[in-house]
Amino acid sequence: MTTGGSIEVGQIEALEREATDRLAQIADEAALEGWFREFLGRKDGKLSGLLRGMGALSPEERPRFGAAVNATKDRVTAAYEARKATVGGAALTARLAADAVDITQPGRPVPMGTLHPTTLVTRELSAIFALLGFQTIEGPEVEETRYNFDLLNIPTNHPARDKWDTFYVGSRGTDDTVNEIVLRTHTSPMQARTMQRQDPPVRVIVPGRCYRYEATDASHEAIFFQLEGLAVDKKITMSDLKGTLTEMTRQLFGSSTKVRFRCDFFPFVEPGVDFSATCAVCGGKGCRVCKGTGWLELGGAGMVHPNVLRNVGYDPAIYSGFAFGLGIERIVMIKYGIDDIRNFYANDLRFLEEFAGTRI
Ligand code: DAH
Repeated sequence: MTTGGSIEVGQIEALEREATDRLAQIADEAALEGWFREFLGRKDGKLSGLLRGMGALSPEERPRFGAAVNATKDRVTAAYEARKATVGGAALTARLAADAVDITQPGRPVPMGTLHPTTLVTRELSAIFALLGFQTIEGPEVEETRYNFDLLNIPTNHPARDKWDTFYVGSRGTDDTVNEIVLRTHTSPMQARTMQRQDPPVRVIVPGRCYRYEATDASHEAIFFQLEGLAVDKKITMSDLKGTLTEMTRQLFGSSTKVRFRCDFFPFVEPGVDFSATCAVCGGKGCRVCKGTGWLELGGAGMVHPNVLRNVGYDPAIYSGFAFGLGIERIVMIKYGIDDIRNFYANDLRFLEEFAGTRI
């Protein structure tokens, strides 16, 4: 069977050629799998088939033939492994191409929030008062009547309490008094809290939310912001108060602004005043914003009442001070020409976006 043996060897070479030619044309993983089954499959692959036909050979021919088939099988397997890597690689390349990101495209804009106009003006006021030596602090919005009223020289049942339309939210009884819990009606309670916490000299401003139980209209909201100011030291006088508020007003509205102080009553100050600035819109000539008067009322102020000093343990014979309170929304409305305070809490993005990019 010598000749037969050489024919079989020729068959091996032909099969190897067929396998490698076909392998070179394979383009995807499915076709590669089919090819593998056809040529290298354990049961009915063509190369294994050659080994199964070895029974027809003479015993001397068999080892040589078997070795030739196995060597061929090794080469074809190696070729298969190499192809598998590139077919897989080709699929990966295709997937990457499909997923590719065009890094030359302009980025998508990230939506940015804007600062609320009340925040903008609060920050501006805080910066102005920092230059005048005032520290900005904050206090609780849920407050005790002790601080909101009593320590501020507004005793229980005193008619002055009616001035502040209060939201009562609970009460905390003590032996002889009932200390009620309210939403603070003004930032003034922080006067007492601050003085209880520290000895003079005191120079603080307290911006913050206040609440009043009242009907809303274009200039009244049940929720609004005030900014309280307090300075206590030896020899503080009314002229310090006037100088401080005049400087603040000029920083806010311009150096030609004039300030007016008129007598007013607040239980926690004596003497008490209200203060106004020349209208920032018409410069004092009279317009719609100042209702023809040329003046804009900004807040209340005065010299801290001796009773208030005594209530917190300060000796009014040694110390004196001034206090003031202004409505922040009012200043925002003047500065930005807003004619309805209800815009501040309406959550209308068109209103809020008006202040995009405004920086303090
Ligand atoms: N707390 C007062 C109010 O809400 C405003 C005020 C007036 C504050 C006079 C003061 C002041 O500190 O001295 O109506």
